[in-house]
Amino acid sequence: MGSIELRQINKRYGDVEVIKSLDLNIDNGEFVALVGPSGCGKSTTLRMVAGLEEASGGDILIQGKRVNDWSPKKRNIAMVFQNYALYPHMSVGDNIGLNLRISRLPKSEIKKRVADAARLLEISDLLDRRPAQLSGGQRQRVAMGRAIVRNPSVFLFDEPLSNLDALLRVQMRGEIKRFHKMTRRTTIYVTHDQIEAMTLADRVVVMRNGDVSQMGRPEELYVDPANLFVAGFIGSPRMNLVPAQLRNTAEHAQAISFSDGQSIELEDRVACADGTDIIVGIRPEHLSTSPGRHHLNGKVFMTEFTGGNTIVTANIGGSEMTCLLESRSGVRDDEDIKLSVSQDDIHLFDPKSGQRLARQS
Ligand SMILES: Nc1ncnc2c1ncn2[C@@H]1O[C@H](COP(=O)(O)OP(=O)(O)OP(=O)(O)O)[C@@H](O)[C@H]1O
Ligand SMILES: [Mg+2]
Repeated sequence: MGSIELRQINKRYGDVEVIKSLDLNIDNGEFVALVGPSGCGKSTTLRMVAGLEEASGGDILIQGKRVNDWSPKKRNIAMVFQNYALYPHMSVGDNIGLNLRISRLPKSEIKKRVADAARLLEISDLLDRRPAQLSGGQRQRVAMGRAIVRNPSVFLFDEPLSNLDALLRVQMRGEIKRFHKMTRRTTIYVTHDQIEAMTLADRVVVMRNGDVSQMGRPEELYVDPANLFVAGFIGSPRMNLVPAQLRNTAEHAQAISFSDGQSIELEDRVACADGTDIIVGIRPEHLSTSPGRHHLNGKVFMTEFTGGNTIVTANIGGSEMTCLLESRSGVRDDEDIKLSVSQDDIHLFDPKSGQRLARQS
């Protein structure tokens, strides 16, 4: 129904290149999230797929057909925006059926499709209301309803949840996921919220300055971030990224040496000379008070109780690090602390290029 392929897509506004050369293959039925900081080109990419913006170069293919010159209507794509764009003077039912009326479908068909969409989104009892009489989450559902009734082959979402409060966002996120599971429509979902991207998508594209920084399944981005940008962007609380050096400790042994003199032996070496500056990445949830083969000593600066977990900020290895510990561990401010970390959870990066350093066994 709706595979999408972007081949070397480029977009310029005058002299400014906002998308460099984007390649992306999305399978029919797949859910792909575009994530990245403000201004990195997410909406521009989405709008080019929808046909609301022309690509300056490259090919856009839907179901194998080049659609660059096709009108938005012909592409059979539905887009849901952040601000919902509902008409205030129309009832919910009329808002949902609007595009079908424009397409001059028979009245009975429109009524049936609107009723089906409303049932799916559980807003059947709201069809006679005006948008002003709805909550934010209900408006969001109406906007989705308007997209669904056209029976599109592709769904595009541009930050559809960013106007909602935290609780409703999580609830609607679940509903979008359920909706995709039921309909299996190809979806591109833009967000700057990495948790939203990770929880919803089959694959996540991390964008930066109009380029793809890394693309992969959520687990891949989490376990194997390709560079410092992705390492810092994916995961919450953020990965600790601290400066250190590589040391050759014996003929075939190598260690990470932190600025306060502590070190961790590396079981898998990296191809770098003695004394090379590196950035060490350790996720807060991978530091543990349980005993382990490799550990670091530090002093607790601050603890933040969040319920089951406590976020501990400590001075470790000459840098401030965040640790996500079980609240039961009972760590207190100003205590000395000993934290273990396993080898698989230590990420090494080149500070100059920002690229991940490959480990060799
Ligand atoms: N019509 C335009 N003319 C000139 N520059 C534009 C235009 N539209 C967007 N841009 C620029 O293109 C870049 C990408 O914009 P885009 O809206 O795609 O970002 P985004 O990733 O969606 O950001 P946000 O998270 O803030 O929505 C930005 O630097 C923006 O200023
Ligand atoms: Mg945007």
